[in-house]
This record gives sequence, structure tokens and C-alpha cells, in this order.
Amino acid sequence: MFKTEFLDIPALSHAGGSIRLPGSKSISNRVLLLAALSEGQTQVVDLLDSEDTQVMLQALRQLGCAIDMPTDGSLIIQGLGAQLSVRQANLFLGNAGTAMRPLTAALALLSAELGGQFTLSGVPRMHERPIGDLVDGLLTLGCPIRYLGQTGFPPLQVGTGEPTRLQLDAPIRVRGDVSSQFLTALLLALPLVSRRDTVIEVVGELISKPYIDITLNLLERFGVVVKRDGWSRFTIPAGSRYRSPGRIHVEGDASSASYFIALGAIAPPSPGQSGITIEGLGLASIQGDIRFVEAARQMGAQIRGEDNRLHITRGQWPLKAIDLDCNHIPDAAMTLAVMALYADGPCTLRNIASWRVKETDRIEAMAHECRQLGAQVESGPDWIRIHPLPMGQWRAAHIHTYDDHRVAMCFSLTAFNPDGVGVRILDPQCVAKTFPDYFEAFFACVSTDVAHIPVLCIDGPTASGKGTLASEVAQRLGYHLLDSGALYRLVGLAAERAGWSTEESDLRDPAQAQRLADMAQHLPVRFDGERIWLDGQEVSDALRTENAGMAASRVSAVPSVRQALMRLQLDMRRLPGLVADGRDMGTVVFPDAKLKVFLTASAEQRAQRRLKQLISKGISANIDDLLADLRARDARDTQRSAAPLKAAEDALTLDNSNLNIEASVNRVLDWWRRSALAPKAPPNASRSQV
Ligand code: DC
Repeated sequence: MFKTEFLDIPALSHAGGSIRLPGSKSISNRVLLLAALSEGQTQVVDLLDSEDTQVMLQALRQLGCAIDMPTDGSLIIQGLGAQLSVRQANLFLGNAGTAMRPLTAALALLSAELGGQFTLSGVPRMHERPIGDLVDGLLTLGCPIRYLGQTGFPPLQVGTGEPTRLQLDAPIRVRGDVSSQFLTALLLALPLVSRRDTVIEVVGELISKPYIDITLNLLERFGVVVKRDGWSRFTIPAGSRYRSPGRIHVEGDASSASYFIALGAIAPPSPGQSGITIEGLGLASIQGDIRFVEAARQMGAQIRGEDNRLHITRGQWPLKAIDLDCNHIPDAAMTLAVMALYADGPCTLRNIASWRVKETDRIEAMAHECRQLGAQVESGPDWIRIHPLPMGQWRAAHIHTYDDHRVAMCFSLTAFNPDGVGVRILDPQCVAKTFPDYFEAFFACVSTDVAHIPVLCIDGPTASGKGTLASEVAQRLGYHLLDSGALYRLVGLAAERAGWSTEESDLRDPAQAQRLADMAQHLPVRFDGERIWLDGQEVSDALRTENAGMAASRVSAVPSVRQALMRLQLDMRRLPGLVADGRDMGTVVFPDAKLKVFLTASAEQRAQRRLKQLISKGISANIDDLLADLRARDARDTQRSAAPLKAAEDALTLDNSNLNIEASVNRVLDWWRRSALAPKAPPNASRSQV
């Protein structure tokens, strides 16, 4: 997962390949609750693992539900039946509406029946999301509920600790035009107390009906068949009882699929590929957002559906403008708003008032961010109109994501703009709500001209702290890391292990140099995070010794060895970007890098740092010897004829003699922030000693 402050997505050109979707959020959280309320044990397969399901699982555990995780990735839940095994708990439900609403209803009813008292709270945004209409319905049933903050919103306290009488004879009335989750919550909870036929009447036009279909479908899987009269009256038959279906499989998330459907509709297929294949979801899905397929087809996408798979290719281009009532696909419709930027006319999405009470005010959010890109947008209380953005008018933007996973995922699609501008997604980790690995999945399906993939080079002399700086910067940007020194160290080590001399005099022999280069070209190396294996043996520590460093310095002076390692280094330039550290990253290997840093410190400072490092590893060393070695390596690295160590002309020099690592990292990130998105503009700092 990208836990970075921002994620820069460079301009992209093609897409192709296959993606396995995470489980549906709506199904996952309903299934978890139903399994917990059932009699018997339920095995849940392909459950979504995300923030929203984690808060639900945590709440169920607090309520005394036993949950096991066998090694096959499934989950085994021991149902509580319609009982309370814990009578008092404080539940924190993050920003998960699919946990807050049904748990409120279920615990309110069970507390009234059996005597219990629970508080339910969430993040600040959750305390701004309405729940009053559900609470009103529960109050008329006789459930004691108290608002602990603002009336109409969480946090709430349900139950008094003592049983109270429920009045279930009159129909329960609930509003359907704010959130369909209120009705879902009642449908999920009322079978717990259905001594008699219980009737729910919906007041106002019911929105997001497909979500009610999911609820009814899953109730049936758990043994409760609700009678439905149109969309306004639902009857839960007397004697209903939840019974575990034994094993239940969670479909891939149809809302999450929308980003990949859009990707297939927007991006030309990668060479050798025929579009995007989505695994884990078919056209017969029970999720309402599967109907996004119709909207995407209307805009021009070609979509083929199989049992548990969808295949998408780009059809009409530019996309066709639409004017659509999106009430049935409220979440996936956000993706249409971004597709609209690529359409042949303005697109209007209607009947989406619920956007205003979701993770954020989504109408405002989408309008603001599309405008940032340069688009013209109009909106009203329940609609939005987005005008397409023609070539020449796209602007590089910093996209705010408002702690809303869908905003982040939607705007990744803008990287296919015809102007070749990149997009910066702020706080990308908000996708954790429903799709923690979204960006990894996205990058696995997209490609671009290698020249567009940003590279940040950090070159400098030995012990300047490049390695630590580069690794930290790579982590903060979510980029790949190339420690090119490790490659030279590996060649030196492999040579010595093979019993070959790495003395300078021997390396002058062309046959010996060639032998070394051949080996470098086929190095039997394997990288696994920070650990490195050579020929099946871990060499992570052996590589860091002074001896390996000296050998590396000698073999790296051989031009054919440098040439042999070139391909390996260039191959590391992968999406979303690369931080490369070494001696010639900016001068030879990546001359077109977006930012080049030349990191240096006085020889004395560097020797002191190396001494500390060795002592911390329990290796004894002497400062004078270290200083002499370091100067010898500096001399060899700078004086060799092949790619000598020197600052690239356009490098920014950073002398970190008096800077700690955090300060150095911040300085480099600051330069990067200013340089990364603008297609060619250099950072605003002078290209001299800083
Ligand atoms: O960065 P380091 O100490 O791990 O590098 C070990 C040696 O490898 C260094 O003395 C010079 C050489 N090297 C090089 O010539 N070019 C690079 N890009 C990286 C390292």
C-alpha cells in the first residue's frame, strides 16, 4: 500500500492485462454481520480486507464473536444467534457507514430485548453523516437511543442496560431518500426479533435500490425470505431466524471494478494485449454497481462478460457524452465523472443527492478537482455536469482526496490525458477503505514511454549517506529503489568467491576484464526487499563490509563491467518511479532524470559516520585507516576514466556535513515537490552548492 503523503502518477499511454478484484465491501460487511447474528459457524471466502471490514470485525470481536483465520485466507465466524454474549461495549467504527448503520439497528433491538448498553462512534466525518431517520424508526419501536453529540448524527448510545418493551405491531416507517443504508439496517436487524410479521414502510422515493437487492439476496442466503411489495413495503415473516449457509463466497467489488472498466475504455491496449480482464466479477453479479457496465458501454466501452470475469477494450473514441440518471449506481457514477473529461461533449449525471452525505461531499469534491485539471464543471443539489477537456488544456494538478477512497481511485485515470501531464494524488492511502492495493493493481496494468517514468538520482562519494537518504526518499515517494553500489559490490564479491583476483593490475588484462563483465551480465542475484542473495546464498551483510566496498571500487573502474550492468539498472526504471543511488546515476545511466542530487560531506565527517556504523555492528575499526581508505576510494572513483564520480551539470549539490538524515530527506523532497509534475520545469533552487 502507498503510505506516502502524495503519489505522483506520470503521464500514461497504454493499459492491458488482468486484475483480480478485492471482495465487495457491501457484501463483505453484510456477510460478516449476518454470520455473527446467525446460529452456527460460517466460513467466509474472499472477504475484502480493508479498513471498513476491519472495523466491523473488531466490533464483532468486542461483541464476543469468535473469529478464526485459517491459513487458506478464509475466515471462520462462530455465530452468536440472536443473543448478546457481551452486554456492554464501546464500538469505534471509523468511517464505515456499512458498519455504523446496521450495528446501530441490531444492537438497539438486541439491547431492548435482552438488556444491553453500547456506544457507537467513528471518525469526525462519521459524526457528520446522518443517522437520524434510522434512529427515529428505532425509537418508534421502543428502542432507547441517545445522541452523544449532535442530534441526528453519531456518536450514539443504544440501550439502557435493562430490557424494554418493543412495539412491533405497527409498521415501522423509515425514510428511503437519504441513505438506503437505513432500510438495509432495519432489514438486517428485525429478523432478530420477529415474533410476528414485521412490516417496514419506506417513506419517500427509495434511493440506491440495488443495495437493497444485495441485502435481500444475502438475507435469503442466511435463511430469511423477506416479502417485498414494490419498493415501499417489506415484510419480515414471523419466526424468521438466521441460519448459517455454512460457506459463503464474496464476489469481487463492482464499484472497484469501475476504475478498471474505465481504464479499458480510456486507454489504448498495451502492445501485445487486448485490453483489460477483470477476474472475480461477472455480469450476473448481485451488486448494483454492475450496472456501471451499461453506462460505460453507452460511453463507448466494449465489454464482454463471462461467468466470473469481464473483458474490456476501448471502443468509441473519444467517449460518447451521456446524460444519465445515476441513482442506481451512486458509487460507480463517480468514475463516469472522470470519464466525462474524455468525452465528445458535456456529460450530466443526475439524481445523485446521496453524494453529498458520503465520505465527503462528493459533488463538491469531484467538481473542485475536475476544475483543478482545467475542466469546466457545473453542479446543483443533486447533479453535476462535466465538460470534456480538450488537448492543450489539461493542467498538472495536486488532487485533494478528502479522505475519500473513490476520489483517489477516480483521478488516477486522468493520467491518460493527451497533454502528457502527470497527476499528483494527495494522501493516496485513503484507498485503504475498500481497496488497499489499488495503486499496485493499477500500475500492474498500465504502461508509458520509459522517458515519462520519473527518476530521482542521488550520487555522491562513499559514506556520504546516499544509501540511507535514497532508501528513505524512495519510501516517502512510493518509488522503487536502485542501490547501484550493491551491483558493483556483488560483482566484486562474486569474483572473489570464484577465486578471481580483483587487483587493479590483474584487471588491466583484457581477458580477465571480459571474464568479469560476462559474469556481471549474468549475475545470479536475487533481491528481496532489503535482503540480497548471490547464487542462493544470502550476502546482505557480506556486501556491506569494507572489503567488499574496496573490491567494488576496483571492479567498477572496468568499462566492460559498467557496460554489463547497464541493462540491469535501466530495467529498474518502472512505474511509478525510481530513486537511484550511486556514482554515475545522473551523469551516465539516467541523464534525463527529473532531479539529480549530488550528496557530499567532508571526508572527516564521512569517516566518522563509517566508524560509528561499524562500531554499531560490533566491528572494530580505526579512524585513521578508515579515512585513508575513504580517500583512496574517492580518488579512484573520481579519477577513473569510465564514468568518474562527479556531479552532473544539472545536479543540485547537498552538503550534509551538518544535516541529520531527516533534514536531508526533507530538503530533497522539497526539491522534488517543485520539480516532479511540471513536464520540464527545473526546481526553483539554484543549481549550485545549496
Ligand atoms: O555506493 P557504494 O559504496 O555501495 O559503492 C561501492 C563502489 O561501487 C564504489 O566505490 C564505486 C562503485 N560504484 C560505481 O562505480 N558506480 C555506481 N553507480 C555505484 C557504485
